[in-house]
Amino acid sequence: MVSELRDIVGASHVLEAADLRAGFEVDWTGRFGGPSTAVVRPGSTAEVASVLALCSRSGVAVIPQAGNSGLVGGGVPRSVERRPTIVLSLTRLDHLGPVDLASMQVTVGAGITLARWREHANASGLDTPVDFAARDVATIGGAIATNAGGSRVLRFGTMRSQVVGIEAVLANGAVVGSLAGLPKETAGLHWPSLVAGSEGTLAVVTAARLRLVPRFDHTVTAMLAFDSIDDAVEVLATLRRDVRSLDSVEFVSPAAMELVCEHLARRPPIEAPPEGVYVVVECADHVDPSDDLAAALAAAHCVDVVATADASQRRQLLDFRDRITEAIAAASTAVGTPTFKLDVAVPLAALADLIAVAHRAADDDGARLIPFGHLAEGNVHLNLLGATDTERIAETVLTAVAEFGGTISAEHGIGIAKARWLPLIRSAGELGAQRAIKLALDPDGILNPGVLDPGTLDA
Ligand code: MLT
Ligand code: ZN
Repeated sequence: MVSELRDIVGASHVLEAADLRAGFEVDWTGRFGGPSTAVVRPGSTAEVASVLALCSRSGVAVIPQAGNSGLVGGGVPRSVERRPTIVLSLTRLDHLGPVDLASMQVTVGAGITLARWREHANASGLDTPVDFAARDVATIGGAIATNAGGSRVLRFGTMRSQVVGIEAVLANGAVVGSLAGLPKETAGLHWPSLVAGSEGTLAVVTAARLRLVPRFDHTVTAMLAFDSIDDAVEVLATLRRDVRSLDSVEFVSPAAMELVCEHLARRPPIEAPPEGVYVVVECADHVDPSDDLAAALAAAHCVDVVATADASQRRQLLDFRDRITEAIAAASTAVGTPTFKLDVAVPLAALADLIAVAHRAADDDGARLIPFGHLAEGNVHLNLLGATDTERIAETVLTAVAEFGGTISAEHGIGIAKARWLPLIRSAGELGAQRAIKLALDPDGILNPGVLDPGTLDA
């Protein structure tokens, strides 16, 4: 098997030595991972197809991976998998096609990072509609597979909405999709819709035709402090209605602000009360949007506000939001246990109640809760430091999420971490249909086993 893999991708792209495999076998959080027989690094779609056909014939499990920035164990080998497993590393699929200004589209390889996609678009005077803090490592393939979101979702939608065309390989080696980028097409099954969000269980993304958006020369960033989450939610209505250039509305709990301030050795730019919340708003336009934002915020019930259009001051303000994950990782190393992370979304009216449920669950466990996230989508990242009974916390919080009409994954995916909780938000009929599609496309179940599958594996 390994010698056949070498024949396909070249000997130097099959990593067998334990020290070379190590970084591919554990996820970013340190919570998930397992052994692999080899890490295989194809350099073309044809090589991906040959590798998958070989693995299907041989019953070898395949874990697609690129940036390995996932947080739910969906991109690393399973600790309980009994079959031989390979990690299919897609970082060599790093093709950047020319930007098509007329259609505002570009074709990129699955291994291109979000940051490179953005630099490439910027060089042609355009921008990318999706951006998030892991931009320097997270790749297009993974962002499509998880239907990633980030900060600009309120303006442009999630990754799924950006995929105008896709090229992907099925388990049997068949290449499906099209990179023609036709915005209108009604010729049956739409591969981007099927593959986006399927977390590498139906096909391996090799390239995508992606939508681009205008690049705005003027951006204003504001941080606001509110007495409560409900006060912060209230301001969303005005912002959405009156500020045409609204780009993102993120939130940072006082606990998250305290942690990131410790990490950055800085003081908060403004002060929110312990029961309150910080909100970071960005507006971007071809003309300075500062006045529009100021007018919209004039009547807001906020306790303090700071705003700037200066690029370096904006960066400083954004650090308090963007660098929370980094601060959490540092704190988790200090306490010696991996962070327990839940990425959920609820209708906005239930956001404060959901965070209160999470606080009670954390207090009962003796864990430290660090909530932050994407206010406009009711998407909160609940990070627990020093948690002991993570199953109990997950059960309490995810059950509440389902009762509030929310989702147990807003943008990180289900992966292995939350597979067993899927029945909270998906009916038996839905899960049966999902399983039937999986079996039709991957009858031997080689692609990312256990992911999105409540019926099989735990971590
Ligand atoms: C973020 O919004 O910063 C990301 O989803 C990362 C995280 O939740 O840690
Ligand atoms: Zn996020």
